[in-house]
Amino acid sequence: MTTAVIGTGGLGSVIARHLASGGETLRLSSADIGSARALAARIGRAAVAVAGNRDALQGADAVVLALRFTVLKGVMDEIAGPLASKLVVVPSNPVSADAQGNVSRLLPEGQSSGKVVAGWLPAGARLAMAFGSLPADLFESASNRSPEQAVLFYVTDDDRAGQEVERLIRTAGFEPVKAGGLEQSDRLEVGGDLHGLVVGPAEARSLIGGA
Ligand SMILES: NC(=O)c1ccc[n+]([C@@H]2O[C@H](COP(=O)([O-])OP(=O)(O)OC[C@H]3O[C@@H](n4cnc5c(N)ncnc54)[C@H](OP(=O)(O)O)[C@@H]3O)[C@@H](O)[C@H]2O)c1
Repeated sequence: MTTAVIGTGGLGSVIARHLASGGETLRLSSADIGSARALAARIGRAAVAVAGNRDALQGADAVVLALRFTVLKGVMDEIAGPLASKLVVVPSNPVSADAQGNVSRLLPEGQSSGKVVAGWLPAGARLAMAFGSLPADLFESASNRSPEQAVLFYVTDDDRAGQEVERLIRTAGFEPVKAGGLEQSDRLEVGGDLHGLVVGPAEARSLIGGA
């Protein structure tokens, strides 16, 4: 199947490479097409770089928006029409970092980024918050573990989105575990109790029941 990855920076490039390794066909776009082209060249035949975000969605079954939280709404508005029939996967953490690396949350404490992002989407888009619960280097090292795969947590309010994102998570070399609905997205983000954890399915299931 085909997935668009919009944003080919630190996280988007790792997600794209692992999806391609698992057999997914990719359409890549970024603010500067040079970044998407370089990634497509690294991946090989499974990926194509395209010049615009709307073009990335052509023929795609799903889209991963690997974007900083501050640009997410603008890109969603830009591609709202084609988003309406797609699985939309958002790994963005609602944080920014200052020059010293101090991280601060961009939403009021207790406000779910998943619910906020859902409010930015057109009717018909199916949202899952996923692929943002591990730093890129951990994502890389934890994928395709054997004999037991590491877990990637996701949240969604939509059963079909859940099935679709589970397929993508497996394609990327992880075992999917649902941590709840969109209101639980803060558990997956920087500072959340499920962020940065590399665990197997049994431990993951005990953790999600234990918050
Ligand atoms: N990096 C991690 O370890 C990590 C882990 C978990 C979650 N996350 C989350 O993932 C998101 C992305 O993080 P990142 O580290 O990958 O950021 P990043 O390295 O800054 O990459 C952001 C990407 O977004 C692209 N972009 C910016 N504006 C765009 C637009 N209007 N249209 C299309 N593409 C646009 C940039 O394009 P150019 O390349 O052309 O500039 C770049 O490829 C963040 O929300 C972060 O919280 C990151």
